[in-house]
Amino acid sequence: MASVIIAGVGAYTPERILTNADLCKMVDTSDEWIRTRSGISERHIAGPDEATSDLALKAAAAALKDANISASEVDLLIVATATPDYPLPSTACVVQHKLGIPPHATAFDIAAACSGFVYALEIAYGQLLTGRYKCALIIGAEKLSSIVDWSDRTTCVLFGDGAGAAVLKKVDQDGIGIIGSDLGADGELAEYLYIPAGGSRCPSSAKTVAEKSQFLRMKGKEIFKNAVRVMETVAREMVEQHHLTFDQINLVIPHQANVRIVEALAGNLGVPLERFYVNIDRFGNTSSASIPIALDEARRAGRIKPGDYTLLVAFGAGFTYGSTLIRW
Ligand SMILES: CC(C)(COP(=O)(O)OP(=O)(O)OC[C@H]1O[C@@H](n2cnc3c(N)ncnc32)[C@H](O)[C@@H]1OP(=O)(O)O)[C@@H](O)C(=O)NCCC(=O)NCCS
Repeated sequence: MASVIIAGVGAYTPERILTNADLCKMVDTSDEWIRTRSGISERHIAGPDEATSDLALKAAAAALKDANISASEVDLLIVATATPDYPLPSTACVVQHKLGIPPHATAFDIAAACSGFVYALEIAYGQLLTGRYKCALIIGAEKLSSIVDWSDRTTCVLFGDGAGAAVLKKVDQDGIGIIGSDLGADGELAEYLYIPAGGSRCPSSAKTVAEKSQFLRMKGKEIFKNAVRVMETVAREMVEQHHLTFDQINLVIPHQANVRIVEALAGNLGVPLERFYVNIDRFGNTSSASIPIALDEARRAGRIKPGDYTLLVAFGAGFTYGSTLIRW
């Protein structure tokens, strides 16, 4: 029997750090409000010359190095992003060219917002199992600072920029790597987090710019409630489907949107918070990059050991959600 393993991971966050104190000079907020409501102390912000693909490239190079694999071996490249370099071509094509992935590779973007990395994992997992591809590189990369209204205190304090990547391969061994993957979507909740303009429904114009409709709009309280609900459901289902208990899950890596969402999830699942990986204090919400950045850090920090079970659990605009169970 064959399995699909994560052969390497890598991450990159821009050098510039924007602290809560910096934000206090930009909008009417306070360090205390941001920390107590979200758990965030600082976030990384890309420079004016850095686009999403630049962040993606650095994370991808680190993941390839970690896996000891050259770019020429990659035949499937998926970039999950809500902030592509351009409406077209895909950011994946930009990365493919700059990284030196051969032209016979398949390269495309997916739009699943903050669930993008677990969506990409499932797609790559399925494709590798069929034998159609041999080596997949998946990347979650975001320059969210480009879609945030920096005069709107209800959103701008929450987000940051960054990228994380993983290399996936099929191996002839049973019961390791990706054990299970489950995704979901509920478009009825789309209005809770969206960008009104810049797409085909409302193309950019002087009017949309004047109305700031190119920036994201969010109903925070509704997202909070639904995030806890869907993450609890997919986490429980994944663990039960594989005849495990949460005592056997060594580490849960949730999407990093708000530490209070993670605390509520941990409480509902009855899992101690110490078994959740949390780094939102230093990065804010980096959307599709948040899980792979956390995965990379957790591995480096020795929080993941051979034989361990790790559960990834995500939610995002759409609403999208999903979970991945990994055995190392
Ligand atoms: C956004 C969020 C942090 C707000 O926390 P909350 O406890 O729900 O706060 P509220 O919305 O009740 O706001 C309380 C007050 O703080 C104010 N406020 C909002 N942002 C503020 C800020 N940055 N600084 C100071 N005050 C702020 C509000 O205006 C409101 O004032 P009012 O009571 O006078 O109307 C929280 O709802 C959240 O994280 N939701 C999920 C968002 C998310 O994850 N989005 C991404 C999904 S991938």
